[in-house]
Amino acid sequence: MRGAMRRKEEIKRPEGKLGILIPGMGGAVSTTFLAGVQTIRQSLALPVGSLTQMGTIRLGKRFEYRIPLIKELVPLADLDDLIFAGWDVFPDNCRQAALQCKVLNQDHVEAVGSFLEGLVPWPAVFNQTFVKNLDGPNVKPQASHLELVDAIKADIEAFRRENAISRCVMIWCGSTEAYLKPSAVHATLSNFEAGLKDNDPNISPSMLYAYAALTSGIPYINGAPNLTVDIAAMEELADDCQVAIAGKDFKTGQTLMKTILAPGLKARMLGLSGWYSTNILGNRDGMVLDDKDSFKTKEESKLSVLDTILQPQVYPELYREFFHKVVINYYPPRGDNKEGWDCIDIFGWLGYPMQIKVNFLCRDSILAAPLVLDLVLFADLAQRAAMSGIQEWLSFYFKSPQCAANLYPEHDLFIQSIKLKNTLRYLMGEEQITHLGLDYYYDL
Ligand SMILES: NC(=O)c1ccc[n+]([C@@H]2O[C@H](COP(=O)([O-])OP(=O)(O)OC[C@H]3O[C@@H](n4cnc5c(N)ncnc54)[C@H](O)[C@@H]3O)[C@@H](O)[C@H]2O)c1
Repeated sequence: MRGAMRRKEEIKRPEGKLGILIPGMGGAVSTTFLAGVQTIRQSLALPVGSLTQMGTIRLGKRFEYRIPLIKELVPLADLDDLIFAGWDVFPDNCRQAALQCKVLNQDHVEAVGSFLEGLVPWPAVFNQTFVKNLDGPNVKPQASHLELVDAIKADIEAFRRENAISRCVMIWCGSTEAYLKPSAVHATLSNFEAGLKDNDPNISPSMLYAYAALTSGIPYINGAPNLTVDIAAMEELADDCQVAIAGKDFKTGQTLMKTILAPGLKARMLGLSGWYSTNILGNRDGMVLDDKDSFKTKEESKLSVLDTILQPQVYPELYREFFHKVVINYYPPRGDNKEGWDCIDIFGWLGYPMQIKVNFLCRDSILAAPLVLDLVLFADLAQRAAMSGIQEWLSFYFKSPQCAANLYPEHDLFIQSIKLKNTLRYLMGEEQITHLGLDYYYDL
């Protein structure tokens, strides 16, 4: 059953506390996000990279100069109303975890140290079959799938009660799980629920968290590339429970650059004969991706981008035969400061070849943290606007955007940005902006 989307007057106000539930709370992305939000709340830094905090939106005609901040247009939760909790395989509090991840320097971590120290992860629902290169002590005792779902729900309920939380959002910042192909147990909700009873091995820990969230009325966002809410069973559950879902795999680093560059090449009808992408990465994520099953999940997510942007079936002369390769190598000395090289072979007028080299020395979690903030705030908005099921308008944030089964995903960052902003205009009863602009010159 699909829910009816609400309009401006009916969107519930963001009253009370918003609980942010994070599987993988002790990881690099999560701790960078948590430390960052507190630093910003203390006015010690700007929320650079966050559209909800710094972005503006044009409304009406260009001569009106109406360009409010997005957070002035749409009713978003205030940063001071966010309360955090989560699970991790390691028991360290978030101060210890942030120091260990080494994304932020010690001064930054210590400036919000007491806040981070208060964030201690609950024991995780974990199964090493899905993350071979990880082994930590802070895990719930092995039990049946249904008992583990109940244990997650009990954690959530206690958190809600103790902190007088009015709404929650769950965002997966956990490790990438091993590659899973959608199978019969994922095909319908009744199969999935039978699989829960039978402890089906194709149900991963992330799916148990997602099932617990959705059946508790909590939106679920997947920041990793593993299969979780992008299966028919979960889509059905999200519709039944009238809850928002979105995913997957935060669009940062090399893929962000790809989705900025590739639309430009296509817009100018320049051909592509090859795109070779390689990375070195030394954090825990890099260590997990050193396992071939986890890498396979990531590879699928990274490879799909160019095909959907360039549309080789529509432009066979330009894009039919391009060679696309993505490599990630685990190289500990670099930590979270990944280095990516892209070697792009393009061709122009009369087929003359040209080359583009991109050497992106990025900081993965610095790019990911503002996405976490935007996603939890927008997922909460969607929930208050009764927009249940897949939130395709949030494609802007993902490497593998989830969309309806009969659609292809939209990867082009600029189309994604237009889609996101037009959704906000729509929700607030503002005119859609098509950029036609002929009405400035002619009577239409
Ligand atoms: N860093 C980025 O820019 C970026 C971009 C896109 C996607 N991602 C994805 O986001 C996720 C987090 O990335 P990261 O760099 O923070 O990795 P990380 O290894 O630093 O953190 C992941 C955390 O998840 C925990 N974990 C693993 N399985 C768990 C489970 N079942 N329950 C609870 N906790 C669990 C681990 O102990 C670890 O602390 C990864 O899947 C990664 O692929 C990251």
